[in-house]
Amino acid sequence: MKKPRLLFSAEEIKRVEERLAEEIRRDYQNKYPLLVSVLKGSFVFMADLIRLLNLPLEVEFVRLSSYGKGTVTSGKVRVTGGLRSSLKGKDVLVIEDIVDTGLTLKFFLDYLQQRKPTSLKVCALFDKAPRRQFPVPIDYRGFTIPDAFVVGYGLDWDEKYRYIPDLCILEEENEPERA
Ligand code: XMP
Ligand code: MG
Repeated sequence: MKKPRLLFSAEEIKRVEERLAEEIRRDYQNKYPLLVSVLKGSFVFMADLIRLLNLPLEVEFVRLSSYGKGTVTSGKVRVTGGLRSSLKGKDVLVIEDIVDTGLTLKFFLDYLQQRKPTSLKVCALFDKAPRRQFPVPIDYRGFTIPDAFVVGYGLDWDEKYRYIPDLCILEEENEPERA
């Protein structure tokens, strides 16, 4: 059995988001940023952040799907969803729930850069820094977290636990003692 153990409470997450929102608001005064995030994990963060930002902005969500589902992993990823093909004139801010090895974000940043935005920055709520293999820039960082599997606040394990308002570490529950 797996059991979620509290890492950061909803209140702690909110305080850090307020700090992030202040940093972002300061940098995007008189701009009209496009916030883009990858579903599903970041939908909770996106929803809370935009309401703290109190800044005129647009949002966009994409899904990533890997193709080449054969026996050999192609490592290629395709972006699906509502993203316009050109980002010219747009100040794009990527909203990530969690950066782990950095592979997803590295791919996504390359993809966005090809669409020639005016600017491209990253806001990540949770940075699992000890796991990084692909260096990626994080302009606005919420928490640095240890190498553990976390759930809640939009993050799942097998589609479970997304609804938990706190961030939890998913642990194996001790076997009940046998008589
Ligand atoms: P990479 O390695 O590409 O991974 O940076 C990023 C994506 O992997 C997922 N991920 C997690 N999901 N708990 C989760 O629920 C975790 O601890 C975790 N670590 C990585 C997530 O989808 C993220 O966007
Ligand atoms: Mg994600």
